[in-house]
Amino acid sequence: MDKTRIVVMGDPHIEYPVADGWDEIIADINVLKPDKVFVVGDLTGYGPFIGTHEATVHAVKVLNQLKAPWYSIIGNHDMEAKVFATDEEAVQSFCKAVGRETPWFRTEVGPIAVLGLSTTFFRPNTVIKHEVVFEDEQLAWFEEQLHELEGKPIFVIAHNPPVGSGVITIPELHAQGGNMVVNQNRCPGRIMNIVWRHPNILAWFSGHNHLGHFYRNSIAVTLGVHFVHCGAAGSVSRHRDGCRHTRIVDMYPEHMDILTFDHATKQMEDRCAYQEPHSLQALLDWRTEQKGKVYIPRDPETLRQGLPVTGHA
Ligand SMILES: [Fe+2]
Ligand SMILES: [Fe+2]
Repeated sequence: MDKTRIVVMGDPHIEYPVADGWDEIIADINVLKPDKVFVVGDLTGYGPFIGTHEATVHAVKVLNQLKAPWYSIIGNHDMEAKVFATDEEAVQSFCKAVGRETPWFRTEVGPIAVLGLSTTFFRPNTVIKHEVVFEDEQLAWFEEQLHELEGKPIFVIAHNPPVGSGVITIPELHAQGGNMVVNQNRCPGRIMNIVWRHPNILAWFSGHNHLGHFYRNSIAVTLGVHFVHCGAAGSVSRHRDGCRHTRIVDMYPEHMDILTFDHATKQMEDRCAYQEPHSLQALLDWRTEQKGKVYIPRDPETLRQGLPVTGHA
């Protein structure tokens, strides 16, 4: 069967100078044989080296052991090294380390296009520096891509979800802290408005809270978009709920599986397996039909009533 497999990794936080446990994690992912790997940012470990050029280069070196091409965006912690006087310097340092011209990216894999969006705003933030902010220039680029890719299924890779997604967050840590959702303190609804207006967005992957995938809202289907939380494979996730999870998405012509690899047991965690019984095209058609409506079914079962199930058992 024709299958496209992507892996989406939550916050790696790879320690510098010693990347503890990462040889094993990389080996786990290589065994999964993904076509492409995506990383939701926060590449470097906590401590004095967080976000520095040396630590980011070191994290890139570790991730370069992946056999599949990989792409990362910038997470909040990638912006915060004290050695940079400006955000431009921090962004440039990251781009140089990952070998890209821009903090955002576009790539294609199998039936989908993937758009990666980075936070680029830290030092001038007077509310909370750790907020994930998509500035005007990037949002203009994003909308341009969405127009250009009309009719093609798009997955978004970002550090946080937009407001209203329904996907799991940690309010006691991030909502009152001001960095739970993208642009939390600067018209957060603007991001969801873009999602609402562009039916080609079918999935949005984010991390940031370092939780595993056992929570029922670790995947939320809202507006017909799959909002997917991605756990952290490294030791950083242990202090939250003890899970070290990575997302795997298998796309088939007629359905999609969103799976979980557990780096502790070295196995797929079947209790977290999610099956979307419709094709990407059916989801895209359904979203296109709902475009501009004010009330769109919240419940995936209601959503699915109008969709043809395409023979996947
Ligand atoms: Fe993080
Ligand atoms: Fe984060």
